[in-house]
Amino acid sequence: MHFRSLALTVAFLRAIAFIRRGFWGSTARMQLLWIGTQAMQLFLKGSEDLAGRVQGKATYLGTRARIVRLVDRFLSVDVLSDRLSDLPSQFSSPHQRPWEPIDWKQVNAAQIIGIDPNLFVQIIGSAAEIEAPIRGYAQESWDYLHRFHPQMALFVGGEFSAETGRQSVGIWEKEERQHTPVMRKLYRQLTGQTFQPKPNAVEGYQESNNPSDAVYRHLCSRISTEWSAIAVYLWLMAHSTGELQQAIAQLLQDEVNHLAKFWGFSRWAFGRSSLGQFGVAVGDILALVKHHKGDRTNGQEMLSPRQILSQLPRLLEIGFTFVRVMIRIHAWDKELSYSYLKHLFGSHPMAIAV
Ligand SMILES: [Fe+2]
Ligand SMILES: [Fe+2]
Repeated sequence: MHFRSLALTVAFLRAIAFIRRGFWGSTARMQLLWIGTQAMQLFLKGSEDLAGRVQGKATYLGTRARIVRLVDRFLSVDVLSDRLSDLPSQFSSPHQRPWEPIDWKQVNAAQIIGIDPNLFVQIIGSAAEIEAPIRGYAQESWDYLHRFHPQMALFVGGEFSAETGRQSVGIWEKEERQHTPVMRKLYRQLTGQTFQPKPNAVEGYQESNNPSDAVYRHLCSRISTEWSAIAVYLWLMAHSTGELQQAIAQLLQDEVNHLAKFWGFSRWAFGRSSLGQFGVAVGDILALVKHHKGDRTNGQEMLSPRQILSQLPRLLEIGFTFVRVMIRIHAWDKELSYSYLKHLFGSHPMAIAV
């Protein structure tokens, strides 16, 4: 305790020294932020949050342990099964997943742990941009699904008719459209600056001479984006604590909810192997990275070879998170027998005209 008090005092005196030297530019502000996060980590050392023990000094193995703990907590087989079994009831009585309240006044940059705060907020900004064009995503999904499975189309994209336009908003869209505002609010809370997202480009519905395969590939692309969002939010949660981590947990739980539903629905509807589904989704994720390099505000900078090399430990952590999520989904998938899926959704839909 003596050591911690001493370290906090040293951090405080260093902060005062920076201010007195007059270096109050953005570099000095980030240095101050860094000192603040170091002081907070010393203060929090030994305490627990949603990812387990808060590391006094962040290490690669320590961060991995936090990621594993988060996967166990938020992507347990029970949670995934519960989220999938909720889908049939969404068809009969649509309902949004309730959020726990976020105490925004308590969110601050000192809750970023074991990582350059600049990188953390850059990732938040990119996530806000990727989440932004939700209406376009929902319309795209509705276009693919409405002839194949009208109830799933309703859940994702709401009711729509060519004559009268949009009648209602789908539950998936309602849940997703909360995410960009939350990311922007986090950005503002962490930096004091307003972030104006440059929305992601949406490819939109593409005509195909094999409509059934087009629906399958579209579901796989939804799986890949939900999977990517989960991995990134888990990683952000491993590098945060307190109310900041609690806020990201709300987004994460929405994405887990969506991944379980898209994954299980696709397995029921097409009966293709789990590995085949992963294969298509991995291809989509690689295409997404390429797309975002050109499309994101910080994409060129964040994905430049120099930046990739300098952030290698962070990339390894993110890669580890993707794999850990994949392993958990694969373990859960073993419980998705056709008889269980039939119990949830009824007979195979391939007889339905597409
Ligand atoms: Fe989202
Ligand atoms: Fe989602």
